[in-house]
Amino acid sequence: MPISELKKQALAVFSGAKNLAELDSAYHLYLGRKGKLTLLLRSLRELPETSRREKGKEANDLHDFLEQQFSKRKQELQKEEFTQSEKAERIDVTAPGKRIALGRLHPLTRVQRAAIRIFGSMGFGVAEGPHIEAEWYNFDALNIPANHPARDMWDTFWLKDSKNSRLLLRTHTSPVQIRYMESHQPPFRIIAPGRVFRYEATDAKHSFDLHQLEGLMVGRDVSVAHFKAVIQKFYELFFAKSMTIRLRPSYFPFVEPGFEVDMSCVICGGTGKKAKNTPCSSCGHTGWLEMMGAGMVHPNVFKAAGYNPREWQGFAFGMGVERLAMMKFGVPDIRLFFEGDLQFIRQF
Ligand code: PHE
Repeated sequence: MPISELKKQALAVFSGAKNLAELDSAYHLYLGRKGKLTLLLRSLRELPETSRREKGKEANDLHDFLEQQFSKRKQELQKEEFTQSEKAERIDVTAPGKRIALGRLHPLTRVQRAAIRIFGSMGFGVAEGPHIEAEWYNFDALNIPANHPARDMWDTFWLKDSKNSRLLLRTHTSPVQIRYMESHQPPFRIIAPGRVFRYEATDAKHSFDLHQLEGLMVGRDVSVAHFKAVIQKFYELFFAKSMTIRLRPSYFPFVEPGFEVDMSCVICGGTGKKAKNTPCSSCGHTGWLEMMGAGMVHPNVFKAAGYNPREWQGFAFGMGVERLAMMKFGVPDIRLFFEGDLQFIRQF
């Protein structure tokens, strides 16, 4: 191939290279160890002296020229690739930062912790029990034998039979009373907050999965008066205002006497009315809110736990944590607590 032709070809291939990799192969094709020009230069040795000098100069000039053209093209391509990657990897240092969203405590957790702190200030420790419970702890030991109609008070999720004892999802936190008494000696005072399960339909006031806070205080002379003082103080500290409570006689198999505790309505202040004399819907116009079941521990419960009922007495109570939270924060529907809606949870 004549040198002029080689030159034309090489120049075309160099300028046609679209990126550095292509340019590299073009270089090898002409200027590499086995490149076309390199081979040509080598073949000059065989020419006779006279034409070798002339051709040699021509070929060497072309070699220098192509080396030059190669570096020029290489610089061009490098610049191009740099601007491209600069565009792609550009960091806008003026763009506003992304806010780091901090997690927060669920309102039920906050209420539970507040209750633990308040009862703690009155000397109550915290006890826990399992969600999957034996029939014995949830019912029999609490003076609710099999086939007793009182079992109908709790709609129960039963689990498939395991070998000896029947298992269920605890319907209340009261089984923790038995578990705690089995392994501790009175006098003591504890609360047991936790999750409970009811086999029932849900609506604005009912959930099949909710939380209770159990209380148990046992001593030689613990009375209803102690209970009243502790609970009144609890509500006052929890709602941060003065409160009235009242006890109404009620029935739970594991207490005697048993009562239902009402608290003066936190929304209308116990008047049953709101501004402009409209009825308060939170308390159904009565001025009172039903807050918990309670009573003096039944002798059969002490016996089931291995205590001598002639020696010990005490009170027990069980309150709904959701109900407390609804009253504290003005939440109208219990289902909101379980929907995982961040817009709801972020309000607290
Ligand atoms: N365990 C009862 C319930 O779930 C509440 C309660 C607890 C009543 C302790 C009396 C004493 O309804």
